[in-house]
Amino acid sequence: MVHVNIFDTTLRDGEQSPGVNLNQLEKVEIARQLERFGVDIMEAGFPASSQGDFEAVRAIARTIKNSSVTGLARATKSDIDIAWDALKDAAEPRLHVFLATSPIHMHYKLMKTPEEVTQIAVDMVSYAKKRFQHVEWSAEDASRSDLDFLVQIITKVIDAGATVINLPDTVGYTTPEEYGRMFRYVRENVPNIHKAALSCHCHDDLGMAVANSLAAIENGVTQVEGTINGIGERAGNASLEEIAVALNIRKDKYPYTTNLVLKEIKRTSDLVSRFTGMKVPPNKAVVGKNAFAHESGIHQDGVLKNTLTYEIITPELVGVNSNDLVLGKHSGRHAFKDKIEQMGFELSSEKLNEAFQSFKQLTDRKKEVTDEDLFTILFDIQTAAVDVKKYELVAFQVQYASANLPTATVALTTPEGLRVETARTGSGSVEALYNTLEALIKEEIDLTDFNLSSVGRGHDALAEVHVKMTVNGTNVSGRGSAQDVLEASAKAFINAVNRVFFTQKVLVKSL
Ligand code: KIV
Ligand code: ZN
Repeated sequence: MVHVNIFDTTLRDGEQSPGVNLNQLEKVEIARQLERFGVDIMEAGFPASSQGDFEAVRAIARTIKNSSVTGLARATKSDIDIAWDALKDAAEPRLHVFLATSPIHMHYKLMKTPEEVTQIAVDMVSYAKKRFQHVEWSAEDASRSDLDFLVQIITKVIDAGATVINLPDTVGYTTPEEYGRMFRYVRENVPNIHKAALSCHCHDDLGMAVANSLAAIENGVTQVEGTINGIGERAGNASLEEIAVALNIRKDKYPYTTNLVLKEIKRTSDLVSRFTGMKVPPNKAVVGKNAFAHESGIHQDGVLKNTLTYEIITPELVGVNSNDLVLGKHSGRHAFKDKIEQMGFELSSEKLNEAFQSFKQLTDRKKEVTDEDLFTILFDIQTAAVDVKKYELVAFQVQYASANLPTATVALTTPEGLRVETARTGSGSVEALYNTLEALIKEEIDLTDFNLSSVGRGHDALAEVHVKMTVNGTNVSGRGSAQDVLEASAKAFINAVNRVFFTQKVLVKSL
């Protein structure tokens, strides 16, 4: 069996999805979950792209111990220096430096000749090697590059010290046969290829990212890059959970191993979906809500007689339905602390108190508190910024009657510490609530999206609301969960507004 390393880029390529803006605390929580999932390498961001990305990559590098942490850099000395500053405290820092190699990119974007591109790639890999032991070099738009040019440039960057050669299908253009052939050609023609690992990185514009990645693995690639739920720019990246499960279910065809813990798939997918606000379509392979449901009578009959008739993946394999009843109304603090440690959380005593209070409040209203509920509480607490001046909800009331205009009354404390209160109407309960919040909050707000869903099943499931808005001209998203849909709506609105106050400096302090 050949081992394949899993390189997750949810926090870099995935975060480039339109409308996604994760704050540093959310990124750290996703990174912790990726570590539990067992990814070998995680790309935490693009440190030179913004101060926020730099701080997030640094915080992740300092937190993660069991995965290698990498950051992206353009082929410039200053990007590499900034990446080193962000990554140097990691348990195993590595650099990912890229430069385009296709005729169209070299001519129109870089305005450089192939010889100039080769020289820059070699110089920057040598420069990076002075700091990083592990350097991945990516030939951007490799799948549309000339094969003999690829052979020449790869030979030279390996001589310069690159330890991984990544050949991305940047625009999602290639087919499995073509992509596999490219790797075979490189393996057969680059004389020093044994000194580096080959990596694939696929985009899903033609819906072939996972198939292309599998074809690459069959042709000698030992590192596969992708994102959770396949999020990413345009049509997204290859879905890592689909690749992982395909390798597992079709071991007969794919004799490869990974370090992934498959039962963490559902939780990882839920977390990424919740924090990014990017819903997983119900029919999505492996993690969609319908992936294990059998609606048609014929299927149900078969599944009841023997699950193997229509089910090739068991829900348990990917952590669906492992939603045991965990703790109840009478569970004490000690049992609660044990449970959350088992779940892999380390909370300060202040946050532990807060989590225990939220859990107790939930047991008053909800019959069964599941793992999923606990995760929602814990992730909310872990990602709530402390020591930040912000708006806080004190109390609210909404009156609704089918014949009357709904009216909301809200009391808030402002970032200046003042208590303010007012009432407004709206054509629906949520609108009344949001009109009232807008009247109390002095920032300029334009709500662009509102999405309500439930966490888990049952009539007493937690409600979760995602909103998108502009606050003082900045695009932000917000998230709130509660047992009541209006409370979740209010929390999501305030959470989005408060994001403009979460300066990176304060966030780093609160970690
Ligand atoms: O798709 C791509 O080419 C990339 C590179 C930066 C590796 O994301
Ligand atoms: Zn990409």
